[in-house]
Amino acid sequence: MSLPNDFHWGFATASYQIEGAVDQDGRGPSIWDTFCKIPGKIADGSSGDVACDSYNKTQEDIALLKELGATAYRFSISWSRIIPLGGRNDSINQKGVDHYVKFVDDLLAAGITPFVTLFHWDVPDELEKRYRSLLSRKEFPLDFKRYAGVMFAALPKVKHWVTLNEPWCSSIQAYSAGIFAPGDDSRQDIYPWIVGHNLLLAHAHAVQLYRSEFKEASQGEIGVVLNGDAVFPWDATDPADVEACERKLEFTIGWFADPIYFGDYPSSMRKQLGDRLPEFTAEERALVQGSNDFYGMNHYTANYVKHRETPAELNDIAGNLDVLFYNKRGDCIGEETQSPWLRPCATGFRDLLGWISRRYQYPKIYVTENGTSIKGEDDLSREEILEDDFRVQYFDQYVKAMAVASSLDGVNVRGYFAWSLMDNFEWAEGYQTRFGTCYVDYKDCQKRYPKKSARLMKVLFESMIKKS
Ligand code: BGC
Repeated sequence: MSLPNDFHWGFATASYQIEGAVDQDGRGPSIWDTFCKIPGKIADGSSGDVACDSYNKTQEDIALLKELGATAYRFSISWSRIIPLGGRNDSINQKGVDHYVKFVDDLLAAGITPFVTLFHWDVPDELEKRYRSLLSRKEFPLDFKRYAGVMFAALPKVKHWVTLNEPWCSSIQAYSAGIFAPGDDSRQDIYPWIVGHNLLLAHAHAVQLYRSEFKEASQGEIGVVLNGDAVFPWDATDPADVEACERKLEFTIGWFADPIYFGDYPSSMRKQLGDRLPEFTAEERALVQGSNDFYGMNHYTANYVKHRETPAELNDIAGNLDVLFYNKRGDCIGEETQSPWLRPCATGFRDLLGWISRRYQYPKIYVTENGTSIKGEDDLSREEILEDDFRVQYFDQYVKAMAVASSLDGVNVRGYFAWSLMDNFEWAEGYQTRFGTCYVDYKDCQKRYPKKSARLMKVLFESMIKKS
């Protein structure tokens, strides 16, 4: 059980979840600033206004990464710091650009490889007002392309670019569930599929630009990050449940990865959604197909999947099936955490790495997020929180499952990022749910304290990465 000798490992974060400093140095508002102001949208009524104050604590964060031994760091850029109004004819905020240029230089000087995500859900708010942002097939992809180009030019030393984080979440959580910004669930039957399509186009435009103007000089790579939970049939002897498992993966992963690797949406989606699922024009298809240098995999949990007997409802987004924690025999998939959707099940990780590899011809994979919350963690004292044995066990089992997939299943996994470097703004859950491997004391200047799990990582990876 081992990992390749050039394996990258570290921690991941996202701009709106950690930066704070929302009015500093000319940053414009994003849709999350606006969304957090709507009463009832965020569990504790909080926002990313201060968060971990990482915008002002870059040196502390880099020192922390160094102390923990990370060889890489995945973070995201706040688009509205770079172009406060967001659009392709809007002006650039040089202070915002300079901030990230210095951050990347400082990371590199500390021997830490930056993995940079361009978009982790924080659309400039002006684009929402101007043309409803992600709903625009014409404007959004081109505005994103321009923003991406500004960053490619500003950060030539970055060799690992992520276009989008989890387009599934941007589409489903925002336009079906309505729990993420901008929270528009007025057309659950149509909007998620339009948004997904537009995000694919935005990704592909940025990749095309990178490849034509920047890739050769920087010798870098670019890809999208997709989320996906592992699946097990509710009744393993029922072919309809086995098929439903496949369909669930197609509706979450295949929705984006099939167009990127094969040039079109999965047929199961077309069958259920008909013409509510956009068609690729020939030009769009040519742009999207082949637009990944690597596969970015975010992974947290697993479910049992049970097919439904009745026709799919109009608002169904999952493939006409039930997603469950218990199977027919009454076995539970994993222990409860603070996140209602998350239960640890490391065998699912190995399974899903295999599924992705087989389906997409063994792409290079970076595990761009993996981690867990802990039930009731926020109710404990700091001393208790630092002894996060539940998280220690989670990482131990998941990282080993990944190493098995790498050693035995031919999975080409080349990097791993624990979510997250530190406790942060957990979107609609606010600050009550902690995903950090480091504790953040929000009552005392956002001071960071490594939990046991943060220190485990180095031990774990050093024991598993081949020396030569
Ligand atoms: C997201 C993170 C989030 C994490 C835990 C991922 O889907 O990319 O931003 O904090 O899950 O919910």
